[in-house]
Amino acid sequence: MTVSTTPVNLVEKANRYIEEHKEKVIQQYRNQYHVMAPVGWINDPNGFVYYKGEYHLFYQFYPYDSAWGPMHWGHVKSTDLVHWEDLPVALAPDQPYDRSGCFSGSAIVKDDALYLMYTGHVEEEGKTYQTQCIAVSTDGVHFEKLAQNPVITEKELGDNGSKHDFRDPKVMSHGGRYYSVIATKSTEDRGRILLFESENLVTWTFKSILLEGTKEQGIMWECPDLFHLDGHDVLIMSPIQWQTQDIAYTNISSTVAFIGKVDWDKGVFKVTSYQEIDSGMDFYAPQTCEDAAGRRLMIAWMQMWDRTLPTHDLGHHWAGSMTLPRELHVSDNRLIQEPVHEVYEHVTSDHYLEKVTVTTDESLHLEDVIKDQSYVKLVITVKDVKNLSIALAPKTSQPLLLTYDHSLQRFQFTREQVGHPLEGNEPGCYVSRQVAVAPTDDQLTIELFKDTSSIETFIGHQAVMTNTFYAIDQLTDFIISVEGTAVIETLQIGGIR
Ligand code: FRU
Repeated sequence: MTVSTTPVNLVEKANRYIEEHKEKVIQQYRNQYHVMAPVGWINDPNGFVYYKGEYHLFYQFYPYDSAWGPMHWGHVKSTDLVHWEDLPVALAPDQPYDRSGCFSGSAIVKDDALYLMYTGHVEEEGKTYQTQCIAVSTDGVHFEKLAQNPVITEKELGDNGSKHDFRDPKVMSHGGRYYSVIATKSTEDRGRILLFESENLVTWTFKSILLEGTKEQGIMWECPDLFHLDGHDVLIMSPIQWQTQDIAYTNISSTVAFIGKVDWDKGVFKVTSYQEIDSGMDFYAPQTCEDAAGRRLMIAWMQMWDRTLPTHDLGHHWAGSMTLPRELHVSDNRLIQEPVHEVYEHVTSDHYLEKVTVTTDESLHLEDVIKDQSYVKLVITVKDVKNLSIALAPKTSQPLLLTYDHSLQRFQFTREQVGHPLEGNEPGCYVSRQVAVAPTDDQLTIELFKDTSSIETFIGHQAVMTNTFYAIDQLTDFIISVEGTAVIETLQIGGIR
């Protein structure tokens, strides 16, 4: 007897699985105003693009488990960057050239069609092989992979990088041509970003090595992105094992912004300055898009590789979420981040204080003001303060702590004794992190965007710290205490709807 089998459509299979399993997801720690997958595992943001009046965001997605697996591309869209609508899975690993995963990539609009450029990942006998591929859609929902795939292979790569680590294409247009920046490494394990060019998005040629790292700058650079902003060129990327410098780059994988200038004739990036993008413990693989208003927006995976993930360990059927979209600028050769202004339209002001003095003997304790979704904005004069402590506290157990050491000019976020312990592969930095912050006119301006299991802390234009936590007791109270005397100029606490 012969049995005929129809090939399984892996996109449909994933969509069916999601429909059947999304109700089983345990809601306890799920964020509400951050992008999440309906069920399963999520990592890098992919294909962030403004298309036909809507923001589209794709993401590395394994629907079948709350752990990493053969990568699909999940898909959401939004008109306001705050409310996101789930769309069907865009890509599944269903071709010989991407059979072990559709890895990270980007999107571009051409002739009204939406093109995705991604990495076809193949694992064979313990080795990985990576090529670049294209999928196209005219309705922004259903994607077809090109018959010409893969469009960049070992042949175009030549000996300019490693075919085993050759991924995460970010496609863009410049001067009437298409370019793609792609991550690879040198034979000495140095991070390297390559530049490829094309007339039509289908036929690609190698242009140049755009930038290569030093030994200290990591063993592989992932997820590059290149854009022009405020008169500068900016190259962002996510290096693996960038060596720790004092309190910076303490995560196993970091995110870095290089600011400088591209020589497009030579295809070379000249670096003026560089910095770690986010000083928290859960921020990786950021990607940007330019919208119709010309804003440069960035979104990142709000997690870190090699960490314990309570929602996986506790069987909640999901893991990972995205950061808030942030608007970028360059000022004084530094990358500046602000939450997109749309978010503020959803912020309420339920408690408001002005000109309150706190001293060593008298702290400020507000009960039951912190919710699952909370916004806090504090402007505080710290001229006569030695140490400042801001606590988001449960009634009976240890708080989440944000502290400021004035003499060291260091801001610190600590989740050490809060909820489910989080561990990682780095020596000790996964419970607390510090960042250098100097007061401006003796004041600190601190904004907290808290969702159920995350806090993004913006400290003026100086630093952003993105962190997750999995509290067991509800964080309800807000406490400011000091060593010395501080004046709370303004304090706003509200919700985010
Ligand atoms: C970064 C990364 C990418 C890769 C993807 C796989 O987090 O390792 O380099 O394309 O994740 O999911």
